[in-house]
Amino acid sequence: VNSPLREFAKWIVPYHVWNRLRQKRLDAGRARQLSATLSSAKADEYTCAAAIDFLVSLGCDHAQVVAGSMPQMSLDYARTFLPADARRGLHVGNFVGVSLAYFIHALGGASVVVAVDPNIVHRGIANPASRVLALLEHFELENNCLLLTGYSLERSVANDGRDYAGGFATTEAFATEPSCAQVLPQLTRLAPATFDFAVMDGNHDGIYLRRELACIVTLLRPGGVLVLDDVSSEWFEIERVYEEIGSELFEKLGTDGRVGVLRKRIAN
Ligand SMILES: C[S@@+](CC[C@H](N)C(=O)[O-])C[C@H]1O[C@@H](n2cnc3c(N)ncnc32)[C@H](O)[C@@H]1O
Repeated sequence: VNSPLREFAKWIVPYHVWNRLRQKRLDAGRARQLSATLSSAKADEYTCAAAIDFLVSLGCDHAQVVAGSMPQMSLDYARTFLPADARRGLHVGNFVGVSLAYFIHALGGASVVVAVDPNIVHRGIANPASRVLALLEHFELENNCLLLTGYSLERSVANDGRDYAGGFATTEAFATEPSCAQVLPQLTRLAPATFDFAVMDGNHDGIYLRRELACIVTLLRPGGVLVLDDVSSEWFEIERVYEEIGSELFEKLGTDGRVGVLRKRIAN
């Protein structure tokens, strides 16, 4: 609120001096507001178990988070194959952020991970991107992530067409959950041969995944690593895609019964 004295001063102080004083007041106010919103609590060391505990503390269902996220053992397995100098990652299928935060944490402060997900209800959890953001902030990983809200290709069916959490109506979600689409083809225009690794865990339709991989080949740099989740008999479509990937494009590095890891050939 401007006091009468301030109103008067405004007319006798030179304009540029007056603006400097106003700027100082504005800056001090912004700094006060910011420090009041920043948590001083030190983030915990990142593990999937700590991430899941945090997500449950936000109200997420424990069983759905565990069942819908890649397990720590498979993440640890996939990590061993990442290039030693890996800094730029692409992550498709975030859900509530467990595997995404894992990779950002594993890569460290110089990394950037582009994370693609349409932010539609998944396993009964609405607005999962809000949980991803909370998780990243909690573990102080928010400086190293670019969240892209959209489908990797065209709009695809939610929940892999399954009713994981009960009472899910795909048709309703279609009408009420807008999102962007065609993220991967657009990225190929912006950042070809850029990513040191890509993690694919979005739509589990085999034909869709094959088409996503056509973009991934362009987006990975030569020698870049591809991690496919759910290369297992439960997801036989994905298992088949993994088996059929041509050796002229990728060298298969291994599978632990859950994730399949491949390396893009240097010359193809
Ligand atoms: C199995 S969950 C991902 C779990 C996550 N990778 C983890 O381990 O923490 C699959 C996610 O992919 C999302 N998804 C489904 N179709 C997609 C698409 N076409 N593009 C990107 N994400 C998609 C789902 O909405 C869901 O959030």
